[in-house]
Amino acid sequence: MTKVEIALPGQAGADALALPVAQPLGGDGSKILDGKLGGRLSRLGESGELRGDRGETVLLHLNGELEAPRLVAAGVGKRENVDPDALRTAGAAAAQALSRVGGTLVWLLDESLPVPLPEQAAALVEGTILGSYSPGHWKSKDDARAPERIVIGHADDPELQAAVERAAVVAERANRARDLSNMPPNELTPHTLGEKAQELAAELEHLTCAVLATKELDDLGMGALTAVGRGSRNEPRLIVLRYDPPGARDDILLGLVGKSITFDAGGISIKPSGGMQDMKGDMSGGAGTLHGIGALAALGTPVRAIAALAAAENLPGGDAFRPGDILRAANGKTIEVINTDAEGRLVLADALWYVRREGATHVLDLATLTGAMELALGDLYAGGFANDKDWEDRIVEAGRRSGDLVWPFPLHPRYRRYIDSAFADMKNGSTLRQGSPALAAEFLHEFAGDGPWMHVDMAGPAFLERSRGDYLRVPGGTGYGVRLIAELGRMLA
Ligand code: BES
Ligand code: MN
Ligand code: ZN
Repeated sequence: MTKVEIALPGQAGADALALPVAQPLGGDGSKILDGKLGGRLSRLGESGELRGDRGETVLLHLNGELEAPRLVAAGVGKRENVDPDALRTAGAAAAQALSRVGGTLVWLLDESLPVPLPEQAAALVEGTILGSYSPGHWKSKDDARAPERIVIGHADDPELQAAVERAAVVAERANRARDLSNMPPNELTPHTLGEKAQELAAELEHLTCAVLATKELDDLGMGALTAVGRGSRNEPRLIVLRYDPPGARDDILLGLVGKSITFDAGGISIKPSGGMQDMKGDMSGGAGTLHGIGALAALGTPVRAIAALAAAENLPGGDAFRPGDILRAANGKTIEVINTDAEGRLVLADALWYVRREGATHVLDLATLTGAMELALGDLYAGGFANDKDWEDRIVEAGRRSGDLVWPFPLHPRYRRYIDSAFADMKNGSTLRQGSPALAAEFLHEFAGDGPWMHVDMAGPAFLERSRGDYLRVPGGTGYGVRLIAELGRMLA
């Protein structure tokens, strides 16, 4: 865990100072430093080496002019457009510029920016922690270093303190979700994911965990979840976490559901092999859900929540489920299997039913559900489908504030015909190449029960093939969902 503090820059023992630099150069924030540096910053500006572009950094080595051996000038773009996203990006860029240094990084704030200081500090801390994440955990020697301490260079201030502590907790939890997404499928199975959840619950107050295995899933009638898991010797699990803090309002039980396919080969409807390795990230909805409820518990957010991770491995095999099979889900409805690669909606069906049965009033599911959602929105926004306008607005707003962006998409009763089956209550896919994200959402709708529900298809932003050019600068898991859930919890408390 990175330590995060507030201290005056001169008293922090900095290995590096970092300064957000806005355009046009020479604003209030850098003027004093420029003076102390004998005009080096303005000369770098004149030569065009320092421009203040978003995400650009310039590293200066110092000779005792300031109370640190180094200074990173981190661009945030046009002054009037500076927002938390620009500051997160600057935080990550500075972390990357200092990845050989580690130690103590001191951020200088700029009162002239159009972002209040607590939000500025929070965004810089969040960006620094997300930006210093390394996915190279399995390398024999991973020499990327994250700062051990991040200090906000300012006089002690309780509001700043609270803002940066919160930002650090949430960003660290997002990085832990990234660890899960990046874990190879030979290490992360439904069983080991359950162990991770139990470890998390043991770590945090008011958070408990129960892991349901095949026998219990059969007893609950979860024929959709168990069918998907049948092709693998790594048997399926329903991983349930409950967060029950003292002093929470009793009219809300937030229900969180995460698609947790630890590897999606497609099953009998097997995928093409190109890129299949990225399907280890098909449990990213579960990772975001797990560390999202973990963030609520770590922050002590007074909102009750239940999370259900529907975990299975989707492989072809002698006992695998097949196209043509008719399954019975826990809510009693029957499903004709058209495509075994449309497995996410099957495992989610039983998990959605479960959280409603346990009394969830407001439900949010997170799932890497359809390739078409990634085609539509790329790696930035997830698409959200909700049955309740107020719930949709809240989640979209939580996304806007947190950086886990959600764009609303439609549910409509006339999409129901896409899943009409000649043999069963519904089918899990269609041969038409049309509207697959909406079709999948309509399928889930059948299991979402009564009350507000939103399905977030995060196939695009969950797992990156390359840098996103902002504060997510490495391939692999992004921790999508953790910041969204933490912010949603704050709004509901
Ligand atoms: N996990 C995939 C969706 C996916 C694809 C996520 C690419 C992230 C990147 C999902 O299980 C899947 O295979 N969906 C199919 C559904 C189809 C067979 C109806 C899809 O979208 O192609
Ligand atoms: Mn699939
Ligand atoms: Zn999948």
